[in-house]
Amino acid sequence: MKCRFFTISLFVAFFINFLCGINTVIAQKPIDRMGAANFTLFDDAWQFSRYGMQADGTKKDEPTGLESVSYNDAGWQKVDLPHDWAISGPFRIELEGSTGKLPWKGIGWYRKHFTVPATDAGKKVFIDFDGAMAYAKIWLNGHYIGTWPYGYTSFRMDLTPYLLPGKENVLAVRLDTESWDSRWYPGAGIYRHVWLVKTDYVHVAHWGTYITTPEVSDQKAKVDIAVTVANESQKQQQASVRTVVYELDSFNRYKTMVVASSPTNITLSAGNQKDIASQLIVPNPKRWSLEKPQRYVAITTVSVAGKTVDTYTTPFGIRTLEFTARNGFLLNGKRVEVQGTCNHHDLGALGAAFNLSALIRQLVMLKDMGCNALRTSHNPPAPELLELADKMGFLVWDEAFDAWKKGKRKNDYNKLFDEWHEKDLTALVRRDRNHPSVFIWSIGNEVMEQQNVELTKHLVDIVHNTDPTRPVSNGYNDPDGGRRSGAAVALDIMGVNYFFNQQPVWDADPRYANKPTIGSETSSCVSSRGEYYFGNDYQNWQISSYDQAKPGWGCSPDQQFRTNAKFPHLLGEFVWTGFDYLGEPTPYNSDETNLLNFRTDSSKKAELEAELEKIRKSRPPSRSSYFGIIDLAGFPKDRFYSYQSHWRPSLPVAHIFPHWNWEERIDSIVPVNVYTSGDEAELFLNGKSLGRKKKTEGNDFRLMWDDVKYVPGELKVICYKGGKQWATDIVKTTGAAAKLALQPDRKQIKNDGSDLAFITLKVQDAEGLMVPRSHPMVTFDIEGPGEIVATDNGDATSFVSFQSHERPVYNGMALVIVKAKKGQTGTIKVTARGEGLTMASTSINTKN
Ligand code: GAL
Repeated sequence: MKCRFFTISLFVAFFINFLCGINTVIAQKPIDRMGAANFTLFDDAWQFSRYGMQADGTKKDEPTGLESVSYNDAGWQKVDLPHDWAISGPFRIELEGSTGKLPWKGIGWYRKHFTVPATDAGKKVFIDFDGAMAYAKIWLNGHYIGTWPYGYTSFRMDLTPYLLPGKENVLAVRLDTESWDSRWYPGAGIYRHVWLVKTDYVHVAHWGTYITTPEVSDQKAKVDIAVTVANESQKQQQASVRTVVYELDSFNRYKTMVVASSPTNITLSAGNQKDIASQLIVPNPKRWSLEKPQRYVAITTVSVAGKTVDTYTTPFGIRTLEFTARNGFLLNGKRVEVQGTCNHHDLGALGAAFNLSALIRQLVMLKDMGCNALRTSHNPPAPELLELADKMGFLVWDEAFDAWKKGKRKNDYNKLFDEWHEKDLTALVRRDRNHPSVFIWSIGNEVMEQQNVELTKHLVDIVHNTDPTRPVSNGYNDPDGGRRSGAAVALDIMGVNYFFNQQPVWDADPRYANKPTIGSETSSCVSSRGEYYFGNDYQNWQISSYDQAKPGWGCSPDQQFRTNAKFPHLLGEFVWTGFDYLGEPTPYNSDETNLLNFRTDSSKKAELEAELEKIRKSRPPSRSSYFGIIDLAGFPKDRFYSYQSHWRPSLPVAHIFPHWNWEERIDSIVPVNVYTSGDEAELFLNGKSLGRKKKTEGNDFRLMWDDVKYVPGELKVICYKGGKQWATDIVKTTGAAAKLALQPDRKQIKNDGSDLAFITLKVQDAEGLMVPRSHPMVTFDIEGPGEIVATDNGDATSFVSFQSHERPVYNGMALVIVKAKKGQTGTIKVTARGEGLTMASTSINTKN
């Protein structure tokens, strides 16, 4: 039996039940969101219209007056948020590969008609955008309210001055992605959730709580709670503020009250705010850790004249962080090697449109692989990512920018830096500083001014002014330059992307001898799931999965593990990347920003320049990355088992690759590789031993049988650890493709309009073995109260729309993503058909 399937399914079942709240024992609503108690999702029933550049490349004039109340939007498209207007494509060959060959540039208008009860007249009413791409401008009832250009920042707008309680209101949002450039697919539209928040005129300010734990021991934790209370009324107010701390149970519901502050009475003058600090002691604190991510919640109430006017929820955790130059990173006093992945924000076939089930699916896979840290490359993430990281036990490197004053592209953050950097950076830190998962702030990635001492210091100071408790880093692709200039002195942690070669020199330099250092980006291995080539890693715009291919600045995972082993005092690594993402299909990417990796090496730069010129001429169809350890559809590539073996050494892992269907190579050599968490393995072909191989500690991260002559049959590996049998894997030559099989990740989903089931399709032979090189066209159908949201197969060169119900299988597998129709219960039946193949069907129940 393949142990890997077994372990994945156990993990998946546990986490998905836990995170999606499907468990029937849950009666009470779990705590999810920091903020005021009176909030509602504001995602439903928007009208959308697109102007400027259209999906087909034509242009449509943008009329004036689209914000006005009287404008007739009846003919606009009805959409629910989160919405990415570009993910439906079409893919166009002439568009840039670096942004996914998708038509994301345009001007998008969203309008929403809504009412609030007349009783809201005495309230403050805000709209919170978790993120809108890009250059958002907002109007209410024809009045301009404000703007937030950086598409990744969460922001709040005050609707109160122009709100008509008891009557119809019209909210209008204009987004402009024509003014934005990106090195990856950024998405387009109101692609994250929007919330309506109501408070009294005296209330806890936006992101107005800050909880730190300055002293933690087994006996007690000091919990400092700073609360900013705002008085937005026209008169002076006497208010009383109190915070009660509860322990949360493993489903994030209130468990027991732990401690409460005594009320603090304050006087707030009209239009002013005040900070109130209190210190509470939590006895026998349960620490937040990666294995047991225990959380607490602080409930702050504000009362005026004895009446509660605001209740504000702040989940937090109690843990200690220590970063050392000589002994790595310590969580709660215990060394934790950072085993992280970098990830962009898109969710594959769903595009940038945020979806909780899709993110949970990704994080469950990363956790199963042994990944313990996430880098939000290269921008502020959706708030839910932090909530999930808190709950599941991930560390987060929370990143602000990919560019400062000098852009990597024409319309990069450089256009915003002067006016917005302080606001964007402060918003990120204020929003995320109560999350126990956030352990490092990052002010940038490979920014052009990485040697600039003053600018580095300035940005570090902004972060420290808002949160002095966590270190600040920056991802350097020219770490030597940053250290030489002294810019890196201003950082708490040195972030090194790829170039570790001079590490011993810097370890000896007194300026850096005490600077904790991390591999903020590593490896950048590239591969296509299920492709194996002999003699050359690159064919037909795909890349061999022998896991040796990489761009000039990268290395194989094995090489990276060897490098890490040479520097055990460093904090660990963030692999580029956990998942394939839309855009940046290096090496078939003509994006010249890749040249920036070699800003100090002119010979390499010239070499890459020549390569890019060739690629530009050949118009590659590639539209998504090959960097992922897991492909765009969420199917693990072979590398997954390399990381799992290395990162979870106590899990029995054995993984043979390639597949064993090489009818054109009979008697030719097909090298066989094995990833294992064992230390020794014996490979058998049709029962005959091909020899036993042993790893050398710290040097071998895979076992290789390089001269295996192909004959059809069965490959079997028996892995050993410490001399004892540890794990086995079998790969067999399959028969011809005979049937289809469907396997949903969950048998029950909620009918809330967003919960998703991910159904894996496999092409099998008559015996039920997956046929690895099969690519039949498959048609998906759905019956009952459900909809097909998207399909995919992980092929980085496919131009088939993600919305299509017909999809070619890629190397034996495809994916169909399904949701329940809102409010409808029953059984959804999904069917897959392919010519000459026995059809498959599966069912999923929906529930309220
Ligand atoms: C890095 C960069 C990433 C990505 C990666 C590809 O230099 O920071 O954003 O482009 O290269 O290898």
